[in-house]
Amino acid sequence: MAEPQVVLEEALRAFRETYPDCEPRIAVAAPGRVNLIGEHTDYNQGFVLPMALPMVTVVVGCQSTDGNISLCTLAKEADEPKRLEFPVPSEGNPLTPGLPNWANYVKGVIQHYRAGPLPGFKAVTASNVPLGGGLSSSASLEVAVYTFLQQICPDDGDLVQKALTCQKAEHTFASMPCGIMDQFISVMGEAGHALLIDCRSLQVTPVPISDSSLVILITNSNVRHSLTGSEYPTRRKQCLEAAKALGKDSLRDVSMAELKAAKARLDAEVYCRAHHVISEIKRTAEGAEALKARNYWEFGKLMVQSHNSLRDDYNVSCRELDELVAVAMDGEGVYGSRMTGGGFGGCTVTLLEAAAVEKTIQRIKDNYSGTPTFHITRPSRGAHVLQL
Ligand code: GLA
Repeated sequence: MAEPQVVLEEALRAFRETYPDCEPRIAVAAPGRVNLIGEHTDYNQGFVLPMALPMVTVVVGCQSTDGNISLCTLAKEADEPKRLEFPVPSEGNPLTPGLPNWANYVKGVIQHYRAGPLPGFKAVTASNVPLGGGLSSSASLEVAVYTFLQQICPDDGDLVQKALTCQKAEHTFASMPCGIMDQFISVMGEAGHALLIDCRSLQVTPVPISDSSLVILITNSNVRHSLTGSEYPTRRKQCLEAAKALGKDSLRDVSMAELKAAKARLDAEVYCRAHHVISEIKRTAEGAEALKARNYWEFGKLMVQSHNSLRDDYNVSCRELDELVAVAMDGEGVYGSRMTGGGFGGCTVTLLEAAAVEKTIQRIKDNYSGTPTFHITRPSRGAHVLQL
C-alpha cells in the first residue's frame, strides 16, 4: 500500500472509534519536506531548494452543528491530552496558544484562517512524518489543517497566502519564528521535482529530479537538540544585524565582497553567520543549475560545502550529523551529503547513485555511533484532498 494510504486508513479507523456517531466525510494530506540545499536562507530572502516527501500528515473529519471543534491526534510523541474540544473561535472569543503543545499548530491555523465563519467540526490527525526530525512535521500539520478547513469553508484558493497563513500560525501559536520554506513546499510540492523558491519574490522554479539512476536518501540521526529554544531566533537576529550594519534590508542584498570589506567592523560571530548565508544563497542558485543539467557531482560538491558552512560558520550542526555526513561520503557512488532543516540533530540528505545505496546504508549502520533510520525517498506532490 502507498504510504499516504496507510496513514489515511489509520486515521479513519481512529475517527470511527473516537466519534462513533459521525461518518468521516473529508480527508486531506500535506507532505513533510527535505531541503536539498539552501539552509537558513529563507528568512534572509534568499533561495531554497526543497522537495515535498511521500511522508504526509493526514486530517480526516466531518462538519458538525454543535458549534464546537473536536480534535484528536494519533501522534505517539504528542503531549497529553491527545483529544480536546473547544468552541469555534469568534471575534470576542479568539483561540490562544496553550497546552497541549501539539494542538497549537492546529489552533493557530484555525485562528488565522482566511475565510469564515467556520462551522464546527470533528477531526483526527495522523502522520508518518517523523516528529522533530527536521522534515517539517509541524508545517505538514499546519498545511493539512488549512487544507481541511478549505473543504468545509472555502477561501479564495490563493496558495501563497495559504502558506503565509500557516507560517503565521507557527510564529504566533508555536513561538517559532520560522521562514517560509516549510509551509511553502508543503503547499506547492510537485511530484518528480524539487522547487527552487525565491524567498523574496516567492517565485517558484520546478527542477526535475526523475533520473532513475539517482537516489535521495534521508538518514535520521534520531537525536534532537533543542531548536525552538533560543538558537534559531538568535541566528535570525544576527543575520538582521549584519544586514543592517551593511545598510541593507536583508543579506540577500549583500555581496561577499561587501561583507569582506566590512569584516573589521562586524562582530566575529555575526560575520561568520553572514558568511554562511551569503555563500549558501549563491550555492543554492548554482545547485539548481547543476541539478537541471544532471551534473550530480557538481551538486554533491555544493551539498558538502553547504554542510561545512552550516557546521563551521553557522554552528547549527552537531557531532551526530557531522558523523553521518562523513561516513556517507566515505565510499563510492556518493555525490554529496549534508544536514537538512534547522539543525541540532534531525536528518541528513544524501544524493547518490542507485547502485551505491545498499553499501552506503550498510556503511552508515556499521560506523554511526547512534541508531540511524533510513528513508529512500522521491519528490512528491503538495497538499491535496484524498478520495474516500
Ligand atoms: C526550519 C525553518 C525553516 C528554515 C530552516 C532552515 O526548518 O522552519 O523556515 O529556516 O529551519 O533552513
